[in-house]
Amino acid sequence: MDYATTNDIQEIVEADRKNVWHHLSQHKQYESQVDPRIIVEGKGMRVWDQNGKEHLDAVSGGVWTVNVGYGRERIADAVRDQLVKMNYFAQSAGSIPAAIYADMLIDKMPGMSRVYYSNSGSEANEKVFKMVRQISHSHYDGKKNKILYRNRDYHGTTITALSATGQEQRKAQYGPYTPGFVEIPHCLEYRDQYGEADYGAACLRATEEVILSEGPETIGLMCLEPITAGGGVIIPPEGYLEGIQALCKKYEILLHIDEVVCGLGRTGTWFGYQHFDIQPDFVTMAKGVASGYAAISCTVTTEAVFDKFKEDPSDPMSYFRDISTFGGCTGGPAAAIENMKIIEEEGLLENCQKMGEYCLSALEDLKAKHSVIGDVRGKGLFLGVELVQDRETKEPADEKLVQAVVGDCMANGVIIGATNRSVPGFNNTLCLSPALILTKEDTDIIVGAIDNALTKVFG
Ligand SMILES: Cc1ncc(COP(=O)(O)O)c(C=O)c1O
Repeated sequence: MDYATTNDIQEIVEADRKNVWHHLSQHKQYESQVDPRIIVEGKGMRVWDQNGKEHLDAVSGGVWTVNVGYGRERIADAVRDQLVKMNYFAQSAGSIPAAIYADMLIDKMPGMSRVYYSNSGSEANEKVFKMVRQISHSHYDGKKNKILYRNRDYHGTTITALSATGQEQRKAQYGPYTPGFVEIPHCLEYRDQYGEADYGAACLRATEEVILSEGPETIGLMCLEPITAGGGVIIPPEGYLEGIQALCKKYEILLHIDEVVCGLGRTGTWFGYQHFDIQPDFVTMAKGVASGYAAISCTVTTEAVFDKFKEDPSDPMSYFRDISTFGGCTGGPAAAIENMKIIEEEGLLENCQKMGEYCLSALEDLKAKHSVIGDVRGKGLFLGVELVQDRETKEPADEKLVQAVVGDCMANGVIIGATNRSVPGFNNTLCLSPALILTKEDTDIIVGAIDNALTKVFG
């Protein structure tokens, strides 16, 4: 076939079936009756597949990414204009959009000052780990090199990002892992591990116990999602993140907040950590930076961190000896500039807060109706619905049934997500992360689809 001109979508489906390996997918099903899904077009909150079927996308491109919605011509135009002027040069030199975007971004992040560009969330996190290991060598004789991560948190797909991930099913069969990564407990109050009155304080005490047993002098970094995404949409308990910051200060541990999902608007503030009274040393971001219009990620540090890499110019090994080839692509920051302008000009942070509250309350209403809903949680347009067999025992709902809910919504033209191959036995949380342009009408359609699916699957 002439791939450039074919109008025969079935030929595309067959080309996909023959040669494409889809992410997170068991392919056996595509050998016979099921066609791989091809998403052909998107506009606003909606996408169309190869059969012309329309879907309302409540997960922003499947994985909480397309925050400003599909079909934004002004982003495409800005990228096009930039690419024909100057598409690429290694980021050892600067570029006009990279400088402008860094300035715009830092303006939204008081206390932060340096932006290091690369092109995926995993890579942005790996930069932090490398910086911390180098600081350990240059300032602590190589001893303060351990990195704490939290049970249920995810920090990416590479072997080292997985080493910092607390999701057993994501990690299984891909070891051995990078040494020096140590797990601390999760902070999901609904699944309280301690049974004490002050859950946040109990989490902090358990975290401090890990710090003390490992030896604070061996720990360089604590790495956290401000709101855990794929591990179950976990909102931290009152005072918890402030307590984490205090522990980090007490033991001279740098604090890294992974904003790959929360970053740029998802929770109704620019960043998830900005709901709390904390000042991180590192912030990483990717998905919502350019809403998927170009690949870009940012590792943002304080000036104090940055300074550590220029203390001794006479030492040729003292600066950050790292490069990301595609961190020099100018399309990323060009798209990110327009993405941020759209969020500001259209008041999308405010809309996210407003629609988030509306959606949360509609989901609470569903909880009153369906006993299978054990817990509803969320911040802005980042929402989770945990399904259980029994509200008393909180035994998680059968994963197959959770997936059946997702499947039923999809069949009815609404794309929702669910925690998937993450925490064994606990892949039971439905996930919603619609674009920040969400309206009441579309919220009603999404919640209505979930309502119908729950009735169909659980009665
Ligand atoms: C919190 C978090 N960090 C990091 C990543 C990894 O990002 P990427 O897939 O762009 O490497 C993800 C991806 O889902 C994520 O959810």
